[in-house]
Amino acid sequence: MAATIIDGKAKAAELSESISAATAVMVKQTGIKPGLSVVIVGEDPASQVYVRNKKRTAEACGFNSIQHTLPEDSAQDDVINLIEQLNADPAVHGILVQLPLPSQLNEEKITQAILPGKDVDGFHFQNIGMLTAGNTDSAFVPCTPAGCMLMIEDHLGKDLSGLNAVIVGRSNIVGKPMASLLLKANATVTICHSRTRDLPSVTRNADILVAAVGRAQMVKGDWIKPGAIVIDVGINRIQVDVDGASKNRLVGDVDFDEAVRVAGAITPVPGGVGPMTIALLMLNTLRSAKRSAS
Ligand code: GUN
Repeated sequence: MAATIIDGKAKAAELSESISAATAVMVKQTGIKPGLSVVIVGEDPASQVYVRNKKRTAEACGFNSIQHTLPEDSAQDDVINLIEQLNADPAVHGILVQLPLPSQLNEEKITQAILPGKDVDGFHFQNIGMLTAGNTDSAFVPCTPAGCMLMIEDHLGKDLSGLNAVIVGRSNIVGKPMASLLLKANATVTICHSRTRDLPSVTRNADILVAAVGRAQMVKGDWIKPGAIVIDVGINRIQVDVDGASKNRLVGDVDFDEAVRVAGAITPVPGGVGPMTIALLMLNTLRSAKRSAS
């Protein structure tokens, strides 16, 4: 039997609806409108698409959304000065610096310059620390793993006791925070990466498999345990041949056509994790605005 396709787009749209409704109530009761500032440095085309989508969703939720575009050759101090200005602005509840940054900039210094209370990406060490300690009530949790978790909970419930979760990829943005969330939900968690020996033999044990490596269609059908839930975080552009013409296509880190025959449930690319990431960014921004109102 083919896998259930997890409709991240529909779930994200539902979430955005409820965020819009909650925002309207907050604005009416407190006069405070959630403000999200998105900083983009340079002109990376993929980053521009992501930032545009974030702005569009923020506006649809009834937020103030301000985009700050800095030139590709910006100096470290240019970015830090902007962040300090946004840190001090009471109308700004969420600050996000789109990654990756141009190579002259120090990504860590920049993400750590954002006030933890406005760090809706959840990249500040204070938020990472709270998440790692299991305090998800206080921490801002990074949006992609938080979105993945909601989809996993929809299928398996909140308690993952006895289930093996395998994450492929050890990034600070996805792999590591995903492990903290799965561990808090009582799953038995393994993180794999480029130095893992015999990766398919590890992934075949996974009841929950999260692929976040950034390599197109790397996870094959025979890497997957029959009936597993497969969460594909990858967004890779590949060239495919369509009737003799070369076309761009977006694919995940999982070979979808193979995996869909083995898995119990799977997120598609596009339309799976991507829209959920944006919805969770809105949820974090609303939370930050609510905190400032209370
Ligand atoms: N680039 C890719 N994913 C992300 C993300 O979740 N946040 C930011 N700021 N940049 C990204």
